[in-house]
Amino acid sequence: TRRVAVFISGGGSNMVKLLESMTGDHPARPCVVFSNNPDAGGLVRARELGVPTEALPHQPFAGDRPSFEAAISTALARHAPDIICLAGFMRKLTAGFTDAWAGKMLNIHPSLLPKYKGLHTHSRALEAGDTEHGCTVHEVTARLDDGPVLGQAVVPVLPEDTPDTLAARVLTQEHRLYPAVLRRFAAGDRTPVYLRT
Ligand code: GAR
Repeated sequence: TRRVAVFISGGGSNMVKLLESMTGDHPARPCVVFSNNPDAGGLVRARELGVPTEALPHQPFAGDRPSFEAAISTALARHAPDIICLAGFMRKLTAGFTDAWAGKMLNIHPSLLPKYKGLHTHSRALEAGDTEHGCTVHEVTARLDDGPVLGQAVVPVLPEDTPDTLAARVLTQEHRLYPAVLRRFAAGDRTPVYLRT
């Protein structure tokens, strides 16, 4: 059974869907939820679901990312994960960390990559006049929001959409896509998953 660590910074709705998916004949089980934000609402949800949590604020590291990542690695080692799923984890990771986890770390990003890397993806899709938008799960490499695509879900953009209504439509699909990709990935299958509503 593969052991999965999930990294969050906020509410953790994707994390909850991932944890809930890892039951029965699933090839993985959650071993820890980690956050750089001790106040992340998702930490409470994880503990309610019986999963240990670790929180390590990044601020005391004052921008020294390698030292922050060394401390993450120490905290993670107690839980011996095989796979890391970034799920709304809002800290950039250095090549030192991403290389150590190459081929074993996934991220979900709220756009149809390679479009709209970085922040504010929903308003950027609206401003561009896109008629379709969505989310992507990919393997994490040293480049932000890059790396082999493991799955995408496409949603329509509607004329009356605001960034919030579009974000909500995408998030609903994130909740389907990420568990579907993780199930495949944990079984050793990197064939991309494509969903369309
Ligand atoms: C999700 O929409 C996720 O795709 C996005 O943050 C949200 C987290 O929501 N991730 C990024 O923007 C990564 N740069 P959640 O905490 O409810 O899962």
